[in-house]
Amino acid sequence: MASVAIDGPAGAGKSTIAKLVAKELQAIYVDTGAMYRAIAVYFLRNQLDPEMSEQVEQACKNIEVSISYENGAQQVWLNGENVTPFLRTEEVGNMASKSSAKQPVRDALLQLQRDMAAKNTVVMDGRDIGTNVLPNAEVKIYLTASSAERARRRYEELKQKGETCDLAQIEADIIKRDEQDMSRAIAPLKQAEDAYYLDSSNLTIAEVVEAILNQCKEKGLWK
Ligand code: DC
Repeated sequence: MASVAIDGPAGAGKSTIAKLVAKELQAIYVDTGAMYRAIAVYFLRNQLDPEMSEQVEQACKNIEVSISYENGAQQVWLNGENVTPFLRTEEVGNMASKSSAKQPVRDALLQLQRDMAAKNTVVMDGRDIGTNVLPNAEVKIYLTASSAERARRRYEELKQKGETCDLAQIEADIIKRDEQDMSRAIAPLKQAEDAYYLDSSNLTIAEVVEAILNQCKEKGLWK
């Protein structure tokens, strides 16, 4: 089974792009951030501190995460409950950034991610897919954009939802999240040596998708 790995910082547009690429390739889109977010939901609900190693180890023994697809959309299950509706909040994202730095949390999800790629042609996005989860992926993309542009996109998204937000604060949060995800000791976010670097700051969605499909073409994954 072939794999396309898309890694990059928060807000680079990975999920939007990965979904469109998966559609073209008739592959399954696997959002690994959502899996880390499901574990973060468990930490928040049980008021666990990701800095307390015993709490993290115990939690990981009690957690079972799985995924399924409904009309092509990934659903994430936490101990038998579909937690997909609770994943996309700032609170959950911030906790996921902290708890995903811990080894037991990463160990809890690695096999699930590799199994998905062993059984299906996948477009998988995250932070360590090309470097760690699927080092033999046929196509590896490092998708990024300037923090100012990522903040602007997030600001527009929140504004459209009618939420009040502050652009400077959003950019500060993005920079903090980058720092956390890139500086952690275990599986930090970094560009794989053999990944194709793609800065989407001045590109449209269609242009980014096209650039990735061209990479897939070179590897014989797309005609
Ligand atoms: O992509 P996202 O915002 O949904 O990811 C949430 C957090 O999960 C992110 O800050 C870091 C972590 N994560 C990770 O450590 N490894 C991955 N492969 C995907 C996400």
